[in-house]
Amino acid sequence: MSCSIQLTVLAVFAATALCLNLDSSNQTSIKQAAATIAGGLYTYHNTSSTAGLFNQPEPWFWWLSGAGWTALIDYTVYTNDTTYVSDIHSALSQNLGANYDFAPAEQSGWEANDDQVYWVYSALTAMEYGFPALSCETSPNNNIGNCTNSWQAVAVHAFEDFVTRWNIDSQTCGGGLKWQYDPTANGWTYKNAVSNGGFFQTAARLARYTGNQTYTDWATKVWDWSITAGLVGSEYHVFDGTSDGDGANCSSVDHDEWSYNIASYLHGAAHMYAHTNDSMWETIVASLIDTANATFFTPYSNATGIMYEQMCEKQALCSTDQSSFKGSLANWMGKTAVLVPSVSQRIMTLLEASARGAAASCSGDNSTCGTKWYVGGFDGQVGFGQELSALDAVLSVLVTDAPKLAVLA
Ligand SMILES: *[C@@H]1O[C@H](CO)[C@@H](O)[C@H](O)[C@H]1NC(C)=O
Ligand SMILES: *[C@@H]1O[C@H](CO)[C@@H](O)[C@H](O)[C@H]1NC(C)=O
Ligand SMILES: *[C@@H]1O[C@H](CO)[C@@H](O)[C@H](O)[C@H]1NC(C)=O
Ligand SMILES: *[C@@H]1O[C@H](CO)[C@@H](O)[C@H](O)[C@H]1NC(C)=O
Ligand SMILES: *[C@@H]1O[C@H](CO)[C@@H](O)[C@H](O)[C@H]1NC(C)=O
Ligand SMILES: *[C@@H]1O[C@H](CO)[C@@H](O)[C@H](O)[C@H]1NC(C)=O
Ligand SMILES: *[C@@H]1O[C@H](CO)[C@@H](O)[C@H](O)[C@H]1NC(C)=O
Ligand SMILES: *[C@@H]1O[C@H](CO)[C@@H](O)[C@H](O)[C@H]1NC(C)=O
Ligand SMILES: *[C@@H]1O[C@H](CO)[C@@H](O)[C@H](O)[C@H]1NC(C)=O
Ligand SMILES: *[C@@H]1O[C@H](CO)[C@@H](O)[C@H](O)[C@H]1NC(C)=O
Repeated sequence: MSCSIQLTVLAVFAATALCLNLDSSNQTSIKQAAATIAGGLYTYHNTSSTAGLFNQPEPWFWWLSGAGWTALIDYTVYTNDTTYVSDIHSALSQNLGANYDFAPAEQSGWEANDDQVYWVYSALTAMEYGFPALSCETSPNNNIGNCTNSWQAVAVHAFEDFVTRWNIDSQTCGGGLKWQYDPTANGWTYKNAVSNGGFFQTAARLARYTGNQTYTDWATKVWDWSITAGLVGSEYHVFDGTSDGDGANCSSVDHDEWSYNIASYLHGAAHMYAHTNDSMWETIVASLIDTANATFFTPYSNATGIMYEQMCEKQALCSTDQSSFKGSLANWMGKTAVLVPSVSQRIMTLLEASARGAAASCSGDNSTCGTKWYVGGFDGQVGFGQELSALDAVLSVLVTDAPKLAVLA
């Protein structure tokens, strides 16, 4: 099944396929496509569970539910469609845990830093967009405001977790968060980009929002370590991780490149630029965009500037996790375009082509989205990650018309 991905094509209803065409210069068209794909994502919502999760194959991929709710916050903010607000509130409340930091008891033992931070992004996003607050809960240990579950308080609680863990983990490699924070978990020896990029981004977003120097200092520290350790390598390629197992002390790096890793650092650097106005961060952002473009766009010469997951996509080998990563890159490139005007035009060119391809992939039954955005239609590879990536891609072209990312007065 395939359909055209030209710039301006009206929705085509055929007997066999609904082609989801996107005119990326037409807000109504983009919002309609986003609404359709959000509906597709929502078919995964587990209504028989009270835990506010999306159905996944085992082992459930809890982190992806966090990514799903974050995309639905963006969807709500960008479109003003309030369909999902009460479910977002309910899901986030149920996964906050006793310390209001997205480390709930139900996930203990297998929740890692990267899983946690993907839920924390929902609080950071809600904080920056002034998304309606959770109904206020108080706790005597909260020193941030009156509500221990305010979006900012939740982000700060998680930030403080990361600081504590970093200090423990710094016995090796001169710093760096480990992937796992439970010492008994598999992967306790891995210091990876998505965890450290996540900590960097959390600190940078809090720095920009609050103006508190503690966050600026931590963001700088995590960035500097990531360079020293080689997670952010030459020409700003971002590599998957490094190990402190068997005395390795991070002496070698796993050079796999996944789109969400570079995206994690890109969005943090964009916040640092917006906060400091330091041209060093602007240069870093521009370089990360160059490398993202060189690495994750243009799978074939007939598909210029269309995003793909270069490690697995052409071979049709992307896992449940990996199928979602393009969503992170699309979402954070979009927000970077808002925060760093000098790269905005370049980013939007890449996102518009990708969003059209993503929308065109959503032409399975019931507008189900596929994996490949450069084939001009639906490739039959479906899942929650595919719906999420397509939703984030389509939403990303609305970002320049979204409300401004707020800062505390
Ligand atoms: C924008 O898209 C909507 C929905 O597809 C369509 O009804 C409308 O005619 C389009 N407007 C323009 C100017 O193309
Ligand atoms: C929905 O969640 C419940 C409770 O966690 C679980 O037992 C059930 O298998 C889930 N349903 C699907 C379709 O995954
Ligand atoms: C959403 O609604 C508000 C208030 O009615 C309005 O100011 C804003 O422009 C709308 N945003 C979008 C994206 O339609
Ligand atoms: C906390 O509550 C007090 C008393 O109701 C109020 O005066 C104050 O403004 C609140 N602070 C914040 C940060 O909301
Ligand atoms: C491990 O690496 C860090 C950072 O490069 C270095 O400071 C430290 O001395 C190294 N430790 C050992 C035991 O080699
Ligand atoms: C700045 O942030 C740190 C870390 O969360 C916190 O301990 C400190 O109280 C904050 N300072 C102010 C003035 O809010
Ligand atoms: C940011 O820096 C540029 C020079 O690099 C300067 O022209 C501009 O006024 C600065 N903006 C702010 C808000 O400080
Ligand atoms: C991306 O890379 C291609 C190939 O080098 C180049 O032609 C294109 O201009 C780049 N696009 C952006 C937006 O930087
Ligand atoms: C499409 O949606 C309809 C109505 O919700 C449902 O009955 C049907 O099973 C769905 N088809 C597929 C292939 O998911
Ligand atoms: C582009 O080329 C690839 C590889 O030859 C092919 O699989 C794909 O269908 C082509 N896409 C379009 C839109 O023609």
